[in-house]
Amino acid sequence: MHKDIKEILFSKEVISKRVNELARMISLDYKNKNLFMVGVLKGCFMFISDLVKNVKLNLNIDFMMISSYDGKQSSGVVRILLDLKQSIEGKDVLIVEDIVDTGLTINYLVKNMKARKPASLEVCTLLNKPSCRKVRVKLKYVGFDIPNKFVVGYGLDYKEYYRNLPYIGVLKDEVI
Ligand code: IMP
Repeated sequence: MHKDIKEILFSKEVISKRVNELARMISLDYKNKNLFMVGVLKGCFMFISDLVKNVKLNLNIDFMMISSYDGKQSSGVVRILLDLKQSIEGKDVLIVEDIVDTGLTINYLVKNMKARKPASLEVCTLLNKPSCRKVRVKLKYVGFDIPNKFVVGYGLDYKEYYRNLPYIGVLKDEVI
């Protein structure tokens, strides 16, 4: 275990099992449809790459990059740093997020995407911190609900570090 990690919440094996379950659910729900997945960078990169390997659909994958946290605190101000390359009008769209915390980021993204007139729009997040919510958001697929702890690994960062850890863990207090 990395020296800055206090506790492992989800091991590589546990994550893999759950991601495969999510992939199966998505494959069933969108059966006979083309799905347009929108990954939210950078946090989603490991999750989406594992997820899509087990999604048995005609799949389009595009990415957005947004500015959200500066360190540990949500600013509530969301800026699009990289936008989709393709139109999503009339398409079945699934936003893939690493974590929903206050909900401000996903709330902004959903509003932004809806304005582009997709046929349908849903959200898939690996992690969810329900106790931190500031705005109501509808999450169709959730990997794990977690308590109000700052977690890193499997794509999630603290000040751009720890994204490469293969598990999801809680940072030691003295590191933050
Ligand atoms: P929200 O707008 O508060 O829902 O925050 C969503 C974004 O904040 C996520 O996409 C992450 O980039 C970041 N974030 C929230 N909680 C954590 C955490 O515990 N660890 C790492 N990043 C987090």
